[in-house]
Amino acid sequence: MISMIFKQHALLSVTAMAVGLTAWCQSTWAQETPAAQLVARGAYLAKAADCAGCHTALPKKGQPQPRPFAGGLPMGSPFGTIWSSNITPDKEHGIGGYSYEDFARVLRQGVAPGDKHLYPAMPYPSFSKINDEDLRALYAYFMHGVEPVNRAAPETKLPFPFSQRWALSLWNLAFAPNDTFTPDPKRDAQWNRGAYLVQSLGHCGACHTPRGPAYNEIGYTQESSAYLTGGTNDHWYAPNLRGLAGPGLGRISAQDIASFLKTGHGAGLITFGSMVQVVEDSTQYLSDQDLSSIASYLKALPAQGSGGTYDAQSRLAQQSVAALHTGDQQRPGAGLYQGMCARCHHSDGRGEPLKYPRLAGNPAVLAEKPDSLVRLLLQGGHAPTTIHDLPSKEMPAFGPKLTDTEIARVLTFVRSAWGNNAMPVTTRDVRTMRDAVAPHR
Ligand code: HEC
Ligand code: HEC
Ligand code: HEC
Repeated sequence: MISMIFKQHALLSVTAMAVGLTAWCQSTWAQETPAAQLVARGAYLAKAADCAGCHTALPKKGQPQPRPFAGGLPMGSPFGTIWSSNITPDKEHGIGGYSYEDFARVLRQGVAPGDKHLYPAMPYPSFSKINDEDLRALYAYFMHGVEPVNRAAPETKLPFPFSQRWALSLWNLAFAPNDTFTPDPKRDAQWNRGAYLVQSLGHCGACHTPRGPAYNEIGYTQESSAYLTGGTNDHWYAPNLRGLAGPGLGRISAQDIASFLKTGHGAGLITFGSMVQVVEDSTQYLSDQDLSSIASYLKALPAQGSGGTYDAQSRLAQQSVAALHTGDQQRPGAGLYQGMCARCHHSDGRGEPLKYPRLAGNPAVLAEKPDSLVRLLLQGGHAPTTIHDLPSKEMPAFGPKLTDTEIARVLTFVRSAWGNNAMPVTTRDVRTMRDAVAPHR
């Protein structure tokens, strides 16, 4: 009886349906039709693939909120700025004229109608692994669940020879894997689901896998020993996600990894840098089951790659505690840490749960490359804001307060205190980063 009333109610609200398909999809009646279920599934998959994160412009002060999927996000690449496209179903400026075949080709092969080859800033090498069923749901969502926006996104103008889009067909031949995901029958369903999400929709390797000289990711599956061993994009270093005990996920439990992806907090770590957007736009919306699958796939990856080590019982660990107490002249970073950082991260480097991350044994602190640490110290940051409603505390920017040498010293201290043991950070590392991320660039 109650469901009858609901259905009546939904049928009466025909006018509301015209206003917004998204709202329509949420109504009880719509949820029950197969077409609407497909659109709703597509919406979930679009979150898993973070289509909105790259295809929505950044908000500007005093201007209306940018429309989702209307494009216009500038993306830094070694070749120049690439602007993301309008992928709303607008017929003139968006993808409203796409057939399903056009959509499948652009997502899997990076070739838009008119034989326009896309730059691999669009992660089509990963999206080639999306299965047909999911691609159909995504298509249904983009055609029927997204509002059209009749505005052109800015045009990408790279310098010659990168302006020659046709040349990307050669790049694709050499580097893009262009094969759909095939489950491994020797592994269980959870591992296979995790592998699928990480390699295809999640495109985690776009940031976490190192790139070769042609900007190609070195490996797109666990079969490559470089896969997910850490990579630098837009001056953020995305750390090793394999089983290493120091800079990898070896000491982080599957449960903590799932919680990190859902809320930005796990094992006393807090997401920072470009991973904040990934959590805010994408992983926070994944089901607990999908998050557990991702975590168990990552935990099953064998240790590969390099970086620092962690041993809380080591002699080095005792020395750093002493240096904090005595203000050891040999370790000028200890004094800076005590004065500038200890009020949040504490003298023992353990931080405060859900507020300030622990730095002792933190794999991102032990990362092979210190880029993300240097950039975070220069610019500051804040923990992600999610629907799960945990506090989002600020990390202050030290760029204006500390010299390059001071930042290098305090980070070198952090990377060698409490049992952490990773390569020092140099003044030159800091100067290079300051130049690269200076506001005028
Ligand atoms: C990491 C960033 C990123 C993500 C994630 C991303 N895109 Fe893109 N996409 C781009 C960029 C950048 C371009 C423009 C590339 C160019 O101009 O060569 C693009 C281009 C496209 C185009 C071509 C439009 C045209 O006709 O020119 C389509 C379609 C598209 N993306 C759809 C999607 C969909 C659907 C998703 C999610 C499943 C997605 N993208 C996720 C960055 C991204
Ligand atoms: C846009 C680039 C980008 C993408 C895409 C991305 N990451 Fe990250 N990720 C980072 C950066 C940068 C960090 C380092 C900052 C931090 O620890 O939060 C990071 C950190 C992490 C960490 C914590 C590692 C540590 O040592 O503390 C995990 C776990 C992680 N990412 C998982 C994933 C998964 C799973 C995906 C795919 C669903 C993904 N990431 C996609 C950039 C990215
Ligand atoms: C006011 C409190 C506060 C102070 C002071 C502070 N931090 Fe942080 N720090 C944070 C917060 C909050 C985060 C998480 C930032 C994020 O999520 O973007 C963070 C993150 C970090 C991280 C990344 C670790 C991770 O897993 O998120 C490092 C490294 C770090 N801080 C080092 C320092 C150093 C070195 C100093 C002193 C020069 C310092 N912090 C001072 C609050 C603080």
